[in-house]
Amino acid sequence: MHAADFNKTALTGLGSILFAMLLVAFSNLVFAPQRPAVPGYALPTSAAPSQAPAAAAAPKEEPLPALLAKADARKGAQDAKVCTTCHTFEKGGAVKIGPPLWGVVGRPVASLPGFAYSDSVKAVGGDWTYETLDHWIGDPKGMAAGTKMAFPGEKDAQKRADILAYLQTLSDKPVPFPTQASAK
Ligand code: HEC
Repeated sequence: MHAADFNKTALTGLGSILFAMLLVAFSNLVFAPQRPAVPGYALPTSAAPSQAPAAAAAPKEEPLPALLAKADARKGAQDAKVCTTCHTFEKGGAVKIGPPLWGVVGRPVASLPGFAYSDSVKAVGGDWTYETLDHWIGDPKGMAAGTKMAFPGEKDAQKRADILAYLQTLSDKPVPFPTQASAK
């Protein structure tokens, strides 16, 4: 092989290599993959309007003063019939299974000397108010877990208010109902 021939061959070879490199460079230029600035999918930004407050809160029970304002003592006397299994209502009434309830509104809790109250009720303290009586009649065990009063509780708030209106009448000096303003 002549030197000149070698050079020719070598040049041809170099030329093809150069051409190939140019091709690669050029194709990279043309097909340059578009890379997003931030990898990953663009998620729809959840600017969805804030959900309407979940299923409107359960209707709130009317406050006790409002229920008492429209309470009916005569209906209450009927609803209080269940109490008479265990309680007397008349003035000077005797102890039955439970203590007599004449004048119970405003009376200190667990205060009748002739009755053996449970420790649970004795621990309640304070005087019977319309508020505490409402709580008691609605859920005796919720107020004094260890009570001897085997009464499941009157769950109807208006019936309880009626019973309270009846209890109000069982006194020589009936205690006035709380007003909206005086109730906390
Ligand atoms: C099954 C019997 C029973 C029934 C029914 C019952 N009670 Fe009682 N009650 C009791 C007993 C027993 C006590 C004493 C509780 C204790 O010492 O744990 C009591 C206590 C009470 C007290 C506390 C009195 C005090 O001197 O501190 C009130 C108020 C009361 N009951 C109201 C009622 C009303 C109102 C009803 C009807 C809605 C009712 N009870 C139904 C048995 C009963």
